[in-house]
Amino acid sequence: MSTPPSLSERSETRPDAPARIQQHRRYLMCRPEHFTVSYRINPWMEPAKPTDTAKALAQWQTLYDTYVALGHEVELIDPVPGLPDMVYTANGGFVIDGRALGVRFRVDERRGEERPFMDWFAAHGFEVVEPVEVQEGEGDFLLVGDTILAGTGFRSVGDSHREVADVFGREVVSLRLIDPRFYHLDTAISVLDPVAGPGGVDRANIAYLPSAFDEASRRILQERYPDAILVSDADGAVFGLNSASDGYNVFISPRATGFEAQLRERGYHPVLVDLSELLLGGGGIKCCTLELRGTR
Ligand code: ARG
Repeated sequence: MSTPPSLSERSETRPDAPARIQQHRRYLMCRPEHFTVSYRINPWMEPAKPTDTAKALAQWQTLYDTYVALGHEVELIDPVPGLPDMVYTANGGFVIDGRALGVRFRVDERRGEERPFMDWFAAHGFEVVEPVEVQEGEGDFLLVGDTILAGTGFRSVGDSHREVADVFGREVVSLRLIDPRFYHLDTAISVLDPVAGPGGVDRANIAYLPSAFDEASRRILQERYPDAILVSDADGAVFGLNSASDGYNVFISPRATGFEAQLRERGYHPVLVDLSELLLGGGGIKCCTLELRGTR
């Protein structure tokens, strides 16, 4: 090709970067047919500002097509009229080994989504667990190797962390978010290598935005993930961390140019997908993607 590489494409992979291996993923997405911003439940949302549903649909379709082109499976849940945030399927549940924990939204505006998601899981062969405590699914729970990182501070309450530990029988590490722009954990942490390594050794790694966390949480992250990519405030502010990864391809916003270069240096392959219209609702790539682990 004759097009010159962008600046970040020229950043070299470090010679000591490990080989990255792409893993197969199965995702749940929801077409943003009813997308709009009619209420304000996070600082990104401005109901007075017009939204363009056709543009949201086109951008969403690009993300869908990109996953499929790279060999991933994408399931769809029908959008429900009057539930404009349903496109953010990461908040529909948390799924490991064929078991789906439903959600109980903190925000009343989204409580209508709880039943449709649980019904979808049940109809697709998942064992559904109805939650007792308030939590917003994979928006605040991230599986890193064998550990669940759990966010609190804005949406999911601390007691839900105990519940998720009971439901999945795994170690849960609580982290506190302190910046209202980064109100879900998946806006401040990106899971890069979600699967535990050979011999059960947890080789999983993450990228994160240090300024989104309180001091105690920052210390925990430093200790557990000494190799993590620390992302700049500028890249965090364009939702750079709200990304999905298959272990090799990392799906990120094209605006997160510093993060893009950091990923390349580590041997990952950044895939740029622009969801600017969906950012008007306070969501990005990861928010539109729920991982379905286990069961066919
Ligand atoms: N408008 C939605 C809300 O505030 C956006 C959700 C974004 N989802 C996420 N997983 N961070 O609930």
